[in-house]
Amino acid sequence: MSMIERLSLAVLHRFDPERAHGLAMKALAAGLAGGNGPVTSARLASTIAGIDLPNPIGAAAGFDKNAVAADKLMRTGFGFCEVGAVTPRPQDGNPKPRLFRLTEDRAAINRFGFNNDGMAVIHANLMARRPGGVVGVNLGANKDTGDKADDYIAVLTRFQDLVDFATVNVSSPNTEKLRDLQGRAALDALLERVIEARDAQQRRVPVFLKIAPDLTPGEIADIAEVAVERGVDAIVATNTTLARDGLRSRHAGQAGGMSGAPLFDRSTAVLRSLYGHVQGRVPLIGAGGVATPDQALAKIRAGASAVQLYTAMVYEGVSLGGRLADGLDRLLSAGGFANVADAVGTEEI
Ligand code: FNR
Repeated sequence: MSMIERLSLAVLHRFDPERAHGLAMKALAAGLAGGNGPVTSARLASTIAGIDLPNPIGAAAGFDKNAVAADKLMRTGFGFCEVGAVTPRPQDGNPKPRLFRLTEDRAAINRFGFNNDGMAVIHANLMARRPGGVVGVNLGANKDTGDKADDYIAVLTRFQDLVDFATVNVSSPNTEKLRDLQGRAALDALLERVIEARDAQQRRVPVFLKIAPDLTPGEIADIAEVAVERGVDAIVATNTTLARDGLRSRHAGQAGGMSGAPLFDRSTAVLRSLYGHVQGRVPLIGAGGVATPDQALAKIRAGASAVQLYTAMVYEGVSLGGRLADGLDRLLSAGGFANVADAVGTEEI
């Protein structure tokens, strides 16, 4: 991390976390983070669901909710960016405070509840960005929508021509009943409708599914089976957790989804189990607690074809994406892997 980034982070951490994030996004959108574009090499270049990535390190959903800085994030080195969650109508989210820094634990807890500017504004933001770079949209549902599938379909249809992938997010813990959509029958019915709506359009945008880390082995098996049957293009494992094991910070008791370092083992276990079920039939993206190149490689060796992160950037700055890609390149080389695909699922259990 550069001296300037270290100083900026020290200043930002004096603010309330949500305000700090807002300031960081403004600085990023203004181009203050700099950079030369996605880190890439023959070893890092990879493909997921037919999408070419310069490197497999992505900015996770929630970081750039309103798509104001996707280009700038990729300029700092990230290989791809997932914006959103986007809901059809703009939404304020839950009352503040709703984002907590758990500094001693290198973690965060949030209960935002899909605050975002709504699909019309966010679509316009993405239209205004320069073409190029891999950008996906995280699909959300408005709090007061009875049939959540309607909302996912509305946002998917609006963004279909503009994004490289769209993620059906049934794993945010902050919208009531959303996680119930991960149950076998509900998930099957939801995916049937979403994929049917996707297939009715001219352009076939890859549909990803994002799952929670708080699932039983049986639930993971069910999700894998439904995802394969319905032809989901990739699964993102995982979102934030409701678990609170082993936390030291005074904010540990806050309600919401926990992310960052303490989520690494739990989310990697879900990823590993999922990989065992899908056996290469659906590519996976590993998210949860990644902060070092070793951890990025561990996700890949547990079965991920790409990796995403959010919380570690709170502590290490946005340049972390590029640094992780550089470090991963060196680790792949040292491990004798010709490329990312070569390393996927190679861990010995
Ligand atoms: C998130 N995450 C998230 N995920 C999602 O699918 N849609 C969303 O809108 C959000 N919003 C969001 C806000 C905040 C403040 C955080 C910290 C996280 C989850 C995120 O994309 C990721 O899956 C988890 O945070 C785990 O990765 P990290 O943060 O441990 O690297």
